[in-house]
Amino acid sequence: MRKIVIAIDGYSACGKSSTAKEVASRLGYAYIDTGAMYRAVTLFFHQNYVNLTDPLAMDKALAQIQIDFKFNSKKERNEIYLNGLNVEDEIRSMFISERVSEVSAIKKVRQAMVAQQQKMGKQKGIVMDGRDIGTVVFPAAELKVFMTADFKVRGERRQKELLEKDILVDLQEVLENLKKRDEMDSNRTESPLIQANDAIVVDTTNLTFEDQVGQIIHLAEEKIKGQIIEN
Ligand code: DC
Repeated sequence: MRKIVIAIDGYSACGKSSTAKEVASRLGYAYIDTGAMYRAVTLFFHQNYVNLTDPLAMDKALAQIQIDFKFNSKKERNEIYLNGLNVEDEIRSMFISERVSEVSAIKKVRQAMVAQQQKMGKQKGIVMDGRDIGTVVFPAAELKVFMTADFKVRGERRQKELLEKDILVDLQEVLENLKKRDEMDSNRTESPLIQANDAIVVDTTNLTFEDQVGQIIHLAEEKIKGQIIEN
């Protein structure tokens, strides 16, 4: 069966990652969380005192970063490794959330990550979620989805997600972080978060998890069928 590329973009905490992961698992596709990659870079820059106004220091740091994803069968999820170390939980902290938009707005950082993401998607059969997947990373993706949800619902979901990782954060703090990131991600010069012209909008505010997964699987199956007819 022909494989396609599925690009899922949208604001923080509207269910992109969990949905993308489940869609990939049902289709037998690979799943890549590109937000995790920008978070890992942010962690590395912080650990190594990289000055964000020093282009040479950033070049040097980016050349030292190796990012891999490995499947954890116990937790049934893909986890991110930074230079061989599992940083899956560390990158989700509020500390990193507060710094990641600044790092991900830097052109050099984006160029390095986009190059890796394009390599990962070469074989197709991939679901990738982020902010610029349908516009920059895979502008020719067969299926592009733009996910949205009500702001407060997004905050509650993110708070619950953190709680599941034993991270207790006040809802107000989560909402403030989301608002700040939405603004920075949408207004930056380099690949801002915008809906691709040919993306299909999925508003998850009133959808159950099963509904949102089902909608995207349905869209993917249509595209896969279309591919077979075209070829
Ligand atoms: O999806 P997330 O919240 O884990 O993403 C963390 C940050 O990374 C987000 O605030 C913006 C940035 N990001 C990006 O600029 N481009 C992507 N493709 C994915 C994430």
